[in-house]
This record gives sequence, C-alpha cells and structure tokens, in this order.
Amino acid sequence: MAIRNIVKYGDDTLRKVCRTQLTFDPHLHQILDDMAETMYAAEGVGLAAPQVGILRRFCIVDVGDGLIELINPVLLESDGEQTGEEGCLSIPDKYATVTRPLNVKVRAQDRFGNSFEVSATELKARAILHEIDHLDGVLYIDRV
Ligand code: CO
Repeated sequence: MAIRNIVKYGDDTLRKVCRTQLTFDPHLHQILDDMAETMYAAEGVGLAAPQVGILRRFCIVDVGDGLIELINPVLLESDGEQTGEEGCLSIPDKYATVTRPLNVKVRAQDRFGNSFEVSATELKARAILHEIDHLDGVLYIDRV
C-alpha cells in the first residue's frame, strides 16, 4: 500500500463528473487499498477517487464503524435533515455548516463487482453523501 497525494481545492480535477468504474480487478483493489491508507493517515472519514486524481465513480467511508467501499454508488432514498460541521481533505483546515439528509439508503458495488445496499444515518449518512458529491464534481462548500 502507499499513501497517495490528495488533490487540493483549486485543481480542476475536483470539478469533473466521474465516469462509471467498469473493471473490478487488482488494479482497482490497489487504488482502494491506497485510498484507505491515505484517508487514515490524514485522519479523514471519507475519500473519493477524484481526490487522488482518478475520475471514476468510487469512494470509501469509515466513520469509526468499519471501512466501506462504494463503487458506482447510487442514492436510492434519503429523508430527514441534519445540520452540522463538515470538512474535506481537499480543503485543509476549513470547516463549515452544511445541512443534509439525516438518513440515506445507497446501492453500490463492492470491489469484486457485487451489488449491495447500505443504510446510514447521522455522520455516516453525511460522509456518504459528501463522497458521492465528489463523484459529480460537487464540494461541500457548494452546499453551505
Ligand atoms: Co471531501
């Protein structure tokens, strides 16, 4: 595994709409492993592929209850509302208050291409929504 460079705010890469991830091979697994190492080293709770310079639809989240890898995630349902502080590893040392849904249900593929669904609430829901936003070139500061 290796720590990858995190793309910082101002780089056009963060504003691109990412493309579907079509292969579920050792190359993808290597990137996902590197992303986890990078996220933990930076003490983040999520990281999206474009943040390491890869314009594909996948991201990782770990809010303290285990790592989840979301390949080609799709938001199925959301409800409720939460307002809280949010930051981003691509925008170091900055935080702002963002309102998002309280509960989400997402369908995604795992690293082998198997489809699964995950339901989340509170911080985990917030982190998942934040990372999915990255795949569409959206940053939390757009939602302040
Ligand atoms: Co972010």
